[in-house]
Amino acid sequence: MQGNAQRVEHQLTDKGYVPVYTTRVIAQPWETYTADDHRTWATLFRRQREILPGRAAKEFIDNQERFGMSADAIPKFSDLNRVLSVATGWELIAVEGLLPELTFFEHLANRRFPVTWWIRKPEQLDYLSEPDLFHDLFGHVPLLLNPVFADYMQAYGCGGVKAAAIGPEALVNLTRLYWYTVEFGLINTPEGLRIYGAGIVSSKGESIYCLDSAAPNRLGFDLERVMCTRYRIDTYQKTYFVIDSYAQLMDATRPDFTPIYARLAAQPSHPAGNVLDSDQVYQRGSGEGWLNDGDV
Ligand SMILES: [Fe+2]
Repeated sequence: MQGNAQRVEHQLTDKGYVPVYTTRVIAQPWETYTADDHRTWATLFRRQREILPGRAAKEFIDNQERFGMSADAIPKFSDLNRVLSVATGWELIAVEGLLPELTFFEHLANRRFPVTWWIRKPEQLDYLSEPDLFHDLFGHVPLLLNPVFADYMQAYGCGGVKAAAIGPEALVNLTRLYWYTVEFGLINTPEGLRIYGAGIVSSKGESIYCLDSAAPNRLGFDLERVMCTRYRIDTYQKTYFVIDSYAQLMDATRPDFTPIYARLAAQPSHPAGNVLDSDQVYQRGSGEGWLNDGDV
């Protein structure tokens, strides 16, 4: 069903040209999943669950268990919503794919998380240029059961609605925050660094690379630092930012960002791989294998 008629156009965003889909919310057409679709889910589910213990934040896997997610079949959103609504008041809604930014922010601000209903094809197990059901469901949904993280996601959505009214530069700053936390964030725990970003946990290669490789930087999270740091869309990240707790994210997001955007507009953005004197450095990356250009 991927590449179907619901794709409306390609739009140039800070992530490059991406397909933007109709904004309508649909009922997850669960009966239309093929045996191949369920098999793709099972393969990806098993593969990630083999490598994630000891790498992903413990609550990530615990919450998948609470949801009853398994390799047996693609989960039904209605089953997940029964668990989710009681826990944090969030609701999963089925969509055709990436939404226009403002529509996406408005859903988050109302505690609705859009999940792409279709899953990648068997020949796309390792790479897909747009989010599919595996990325959205396996990667993003588990932490919505965490009350603090759930509040952060809503605060982010409210911030997005505001930033959209301020202008494109504010949106760029805010998108970097999402990128380096919700998609590619690491968290410091007593057991060591762990993954909580959905872009990492839904990728086998990056789940290993982000923690084991000597190449990337691993730096302490700082809101304004993150907001003015460019990132990679076509390779593993050059830099991962590490939070101490989800409360740190929520606290950083509480103030009005308007004066921050004004301040950041006056200074240049940082290349994705730079380490600054002011950074809290967990690891200074060797930079091995980095491409020189291509930060966005
Ligand atoms: Fe995502």
